[in-house]
Order: sequence, then structure tokens, then C-alpha cells
Amino acid sequence: MEGLKRWVKGYNRRRRYSPVGVAFHWVVAALVLFQLWWGWRTGRLPVGPDKLDAYQLHSAVGLVILVIMLLRTAWRTMMAPGPINDADAPGWQSVIAHLTHYMFYVALILLPISGWAMVSATAAEQPLRFGGVLPWPMLPFHELSLPTRWAIEMWAERIHFALVVMLVLAIPAHVGAALWHHFHYKHDVLEGMLPGVTELEEDVRKALMHKKKRRRSRLA
Ligand code: HEM
Ligand code: HEM
Repeated sequence: MEGLKRWVKGYNRRRRYSPVGVAFHWVVAALVLFQLWWGWRTGRLPVGPDKLDAYQLHSAVGLVILVIMLLRTAWRTMMAPGPINDADAPGWQSVIAHLTHYMFYVALILLPISGWAMVSATAAEQPLRFGGVLPWPMLPFHELSLPTRWAIEMWAERIHFALVVMLVLAIPAHVGAALWHHFHYKHDVLEGMLPGVTELEEDVRKALMHKKKRRRSRLA
């Protein structure tokens, strides 16, 4: 654990996110963009088997986002506080950037949970599958009265939609800010979030050298 934290700090000292943080960021970003487009497209399909299939895929991907986000939150809070970079100067821009990041974390956990609640309250006969393969349980709403289940559905749907709107507004602002800091201010913030393959190779090479040296000194 301490070794892992030191490895992350090595990246943070170079003002970079660790490869784990970078992988979390880009995998989730790709899945979320897909999910927003697919959710919107699914809503517009005529009622029928295609719509049901499309919702199955929407749920399957959304549940993957939920699990990745829970792992990512644990990683972020316990292992990797994130680098300080040029964009961290005191002022409103930094405050807004950090608030947006928190909002992304909260939204990307509450969105799938609200979707899960919607399906559990009203469509529990359609089994959920994590990533389309692993069975996923329904939330325990089946013993509640019908009006209560409809109320849960209504609130979950409102929350789902409000979070979608928040994301649709915040993502372009976040991407615009990242590009503005990179191209206008020439800050290092975007570089810190881009995959650094050569650095990763260098780390692996160093770890192998270290292992070899230890083996040699044990044999000597
Ligand atoms: C980060 C993950 C997710 C994102 C970004 C997302 C996004 C969306 C979008 C853009 C829509 C269409 C707009 C709307 O009606 O609100 C939608 C609808 C919906 N989503 Fe998700 N979703 C996610 C996770 C999930 C999960 C995990 C489930 C179910 C297990 C789910 C179930 C639904 C349902 C049932 C609807 C239709 C709501 C309605 O009838 O208005 N979603 N989602
Ligand atoms: C759906 C799309 C995206 C989402 C949900 C998202 C979410 C996030 C989150 C939650 C963080 C904070 C990471 C942490 O500290 O743990 C972050 C950081 C960052 N993102 Fe994104 N992101 C998205 C797309 C993008 C794109 C397309 C770019 C580049 C053009 C980008 C550039 C960055 C940069 C540079 C940082 C580091 C910011 C800093 O340390 O101050 N993001 N993003």
C-alpha cells in the first residue's frame, strides 16, 4: 500500500495524474459520452422490442459506470489526492474547477443509482445485467405498494433527468476550460491528464531493474 502511494506521489511530483487516475478519467469519459447519446436515442425510439433492448444496453453500461465510479472514489480518497498544477492558482477558476470535479463524482454515482431505482420500482421483470453479462439485483421495492413504487419512479426519473442536464451543461464547460488552459495560458493541466506511455514504460523498466538487482545481491 505504501509502495503504491509512493508510486502515485512520483507522478504527482511531476504534476501528473497516475496511470490509474488517467485510465479512470478517459474510460469513464468515453462511457459517459456514449451513455448520454444512447440514453437520448433510446428515449426517442418507438415503444417495442428494439426500445427494450436499447434500455438493456443502457442499464448494462450505466451499472459499469457505477462500479467504476465507486472504485475511482475509493482510489481518489484513499490513494491518490491528485497533482497540484499550473491551474491551481488561488481564485474563482480553481474553486469552480474543483466544484465541477466533485459534481461529476456525485452525478456519476447518483445517475446510475436513480436509473437502477427506476427499473427496480416499475420494470423489475426485466433482469439487469452488469456489462450485459453478470446478473445484477433489483433494489428491494417489490413489497411496496403500487403508488409508492410509482412515486419512487417519478422522483428517480426527475433526478436522472436533472443530473443528465447538469452533465450536458458541465461537460462542455469542463472540456472548454481544459483546452483554454492548455492553448491559451499554456498551463500543464491537460498534459497531466494525458496518458504518458513512455513514463509508464520507464516505471516498469525501473521496477524490473530493481528486482534483478535484489535477486543478484541475494545470490552473491
Ligand atoms: C452514468 C450513467 C447514466 C447516464 C449518463 C444516463 C443517461 C441517460 C439519458 C441521457 C437518458 C435520456 C434522458 C432522460 O429521460 O432522463 C436516460 C434515461 C433513462 N435511463 Fe439512464 N443513464 C445512466 C445510467 C442508467 C442506469 C444504470 C439505468 C438503469 C439501471 C438507467 C435507466 C434509465 C431509464 C429507465 C431511462 C428512461 C427514463 C424516462 O423514461 O424518462 N440509466 N439516461
Ligand atoms: C464525459 C466527459 C468527462 C468527464 C465526466 C470528466 C470528468 C473529470 C473529473 C471527475 C475530473 C477530476 C479528476 C480527479 O481529480 O480525480 C477531471 C479532470 C480533468 N479532465 Fe475531465 N472529464 C471529461 C472529459 C474531459 C475531456 C474531453 C478533457 C480534455 C479535453 C478533460 C480534461 C481534464 C483535465 C485536464 C483534468 C485535470 C483537471 C485538474 O487537475 O485540475 N476531461 N475530469
